[in-house]
Parts: sequence; C-alpha cells; structure tokens
Amino acid sequence: MSILITGGAGFIGSHTCIEMQNAGYDVVVIDNLDNSSSKSLERVEKITGKPVKFYKEDVRNKEALRKIFKENEIEAVIHFAGLKAVGESVREPIMYYDNNLINTISLVEVMTEFNVKKIVFSSSATVYGVATQMPLVEGMPLGAINPYGRTKLFIENILTDLFTADNDWCVALLRYFNPIGAHKSGLIGEDPKGIPNNLMPYISQVAVGKLEKLHVFGNDYKTVDGTGVRDYIHVVDLAVGHVKAIDWALKNKGCEAFNLGTGNGTSVLQLRDAFVKATGVEIPYVIDPRRPGDPDEVYANADKAKTVLGWTAKYGIDEMCEDTWRWQKNNPNGYED
Ligand code: NAD
Ligand code: WQD
Repeated sequence: MSILITGGAGFIGSHTCIEMQNAGYDVVVIDNLDNSSSKSLERVEKITGKPVKFYKEDVRNKEALRKIFKENEIEAVIHFAGLKAVGESVREPIMYYDNNLINTISLVEVMTEFNVKKIVFSSSATVYGVATQMPLVEGMPLGAINPYGRTKLFIENILTDLFTADNDWCVALLRYFNPIGAHKSGLIGEDPKGIPNNLMPYISQVAVGKLEKLHVFGNDYKTVDGTGVRDYIHVVDLAVGHVKAIDWALKNKGCEAFNLGTGNGTSVLQLRDAFVKATGVEIPYVIDPRRPGDPDEVYANADKAKTVLGWTAKYGIDEMCEDTWRWQKNNPNGYED
C-alpha cells in the first residue's frame, strides 16, 4: 500500500516524502514540476535510501491520475499540488482558480472512482482572512482576502461538502502557518523561482550575496518592535504533522481542520536578528512602506493538533535559521547547481 503525494517535489512535499518514508510508508509522487525540480526527489532517495515512484504529470489530468491509481495500491492522498504566490494570484486569478480548484476536483473524482477516501489537504492560515483575535483557533470565522486564499477556502468547503455527502471520507484540512527551515542534511530546501516573495528565502538570499539587502515592509504595526509578527514553523515539523494526519485519517472517518503552527510569534526584525546570530552573516536592511494586505500579527493555537493528532512542533527559530542557512549556503542556486 502507498500514499500518493501530489506536489511531492516541492518545498513542503519533498520534506514530507522523507518523514513519510521514515515512518514506514511507501510514497508515490505526482508533480508537473511547474515550481520544482525532480532533483529534490533524487535527494529524498539519497537521504532515506528508499525509492520514490515519480510521475511527471499534472493533477488536472484525470487519465494520468487513473493510470497512477491502477499501477499502485494507493490508500490515501496528501494533496500539496497547487500555486501559492499571493501577489501572482491577484494578477492571474483564473490561473489560480484553474490550477488549484480543478486539480482538487479531478483528484477527488478519481479517488472516488478507486474508492480511496482519505485525503490530507494543504490549507493555510490565510483562510482566517482578517482576524480580529489572536491566537487563531480552528472554529473561528473564515474569510479570504485574495484569490489564492479564496482557492484554499473553496477547497476546504468542497472537501467538507464531500464528507457531508459521503461519511465514508476522512479529510484533514491542515492550516499551515509560515513554513521555513530545511532538512538537516542541507540537501533539500526551499528553492523559489526569481526574487523571493517570502521573508526567510529573501533573508537567506541576502546572506548568500544574491540580493543586496532586506526590505522590511513597515515598522509601524502594533507589534513588539513595529514589524510584522508571524508564526514560523520548521518545515520538518510540518512534514511530521502530515505523517500524524495520515495516521489519523487511516484510522478514522470525518472532516477536521487543524492549525499547524508553533503558537509563537516572531517579528521581521527578530527573525533577521536570529538569522544573523545563528549564521554569523550580517543582513543589512532598510525600512520600506507596508506591503498591502499584510496584517500586524498572525499566530496559531495548535492545541487541536496536539490533542487529536498527537503532534506538536519541536524546533525553535534558531534551528529554523541554521537549517535554512545550511541549505542556502550549500546550494546558492537551489537545485540548479
Ligand atoms: P511548492 O510550489 O514548492 O510545491 C507545490 C508543488 O506542486 C510544486 O512542486 C509544483 O510543481 C506542484 N504543482 C503545482 N500545480 C500542479 C499541478 N496542477 N499538477 C501537479 N503538480 C503541481 O509549494 P510549497 O511551499 O511546498 O506548498 C505546498 C502546498 O502548501 C501548496 O498547496 C501551498 O499552497 C500550501 N501552503 C504553502 C505555504 C507556504 O508558505 N509555503 C503556506 C500555507 C500553505
Ligand atoms: C512575513 C512577514 C511581511 C518579505 C505568506 C502568505 C500566506 C502563506 C505564507 C501560503 C510579513 C514581512 C516579507 C520581505 C518583509 N502562504 N516581509 N520583507 O505574508 O505572512 O504569508 O506566506 O499559504 O498565505 O500570505 O509571509 O514571508 O511573505 O511575510 O518585511 O521581503 O515578513 O510584511 O510581515 P506572509 P511572508
């Protein structure tokens, strides 16, 4: 029996392949390599010493999915495949709706055909929209403020409706906070195309000399030092969260959302300082205007994941910085090297 991992060549997917294999699961990956490289999977195999069966296909392609389900005994799916850049989703909304929504619909249709009814979905803290209270708890009202966020919210609703219609399903909606860090080996990590949108890859590219300085987006937020506060979570902790979610889904039926965060908030300047301390590399910065749509602070209450899945994050900010740096330093051009 195997677990199908869509988008498994990507940042979170490749780390999840490792943790799933370490936990004894066989994994099959489908990825169109739109935002990744198959080298990540070669490195996963190197790290674990176990094979990853890989299909370079688009999840929207139902015939390709059927072939995978025919050739492998799939018992559950972890669904990472999708586009994830907020700004791009504002400029290219239809591309986001087409990819993220259609690929999910194709996937659950084919899963239904093959009577596979266990799915773990990559949702996001973005589904809480503009929250008025922190920390975020799963039962709080939801709302999205950009097309990317709306795709996540729609998919949560689609999967919830699916369970309502057929109680044989088990659906885990994992709401990630801000994943950073990399595998301890330094062999796999985040490899954004072009100039990074997110804070940690931006910092690490300044560190390696690819970018000149960090632009801090606003220092007049209502936070500890005026800069935006987020709940950064080590990608390996996040990956382990998927193992726990699969363990749970294989034993249960239901549809539940889980926050995967640490519960701790870190500001932009605190993260920058932690990176300097962990690596000894100076990160020059300037204060720029706020980025539109950015909230003051976002952090999780992750009690439900602890109680129901038995999962808690174990890595702190220092390890997130050290591990990001090992990956970036050893692979200044990501998988291109
Ligand atoms: P990523 O871009 O590294 O991984 C996504 C993978 O999906 C890529 O390898 C890409 O090639 C593949 N893909 C995209 N569309 C596809 C399609 N139609 N068919 C087949 N493969 C396809 O991103 P990531 O950071 O690993 O994120 C994984 C998931 O987690 C995404 O759904 C993302 O929205 C979600 N998420 C990410 C974050 C984050 O900050 N990284 C936060 C919350 C949620
Ligand atoms: C973090 C903080 C910025 C870059 C995004 C998505 C979210 C989720 C995770 C997928 C903020 C500041 C950033 C920079 C900066 N993704 N910043 N200079 O915005 O919390 O979340 O990724 O689901 O949906 O919106 O993450 O890393 O972009 O920003 O000052 O060059 O860093 O203003 O306060 P964000 P981020």
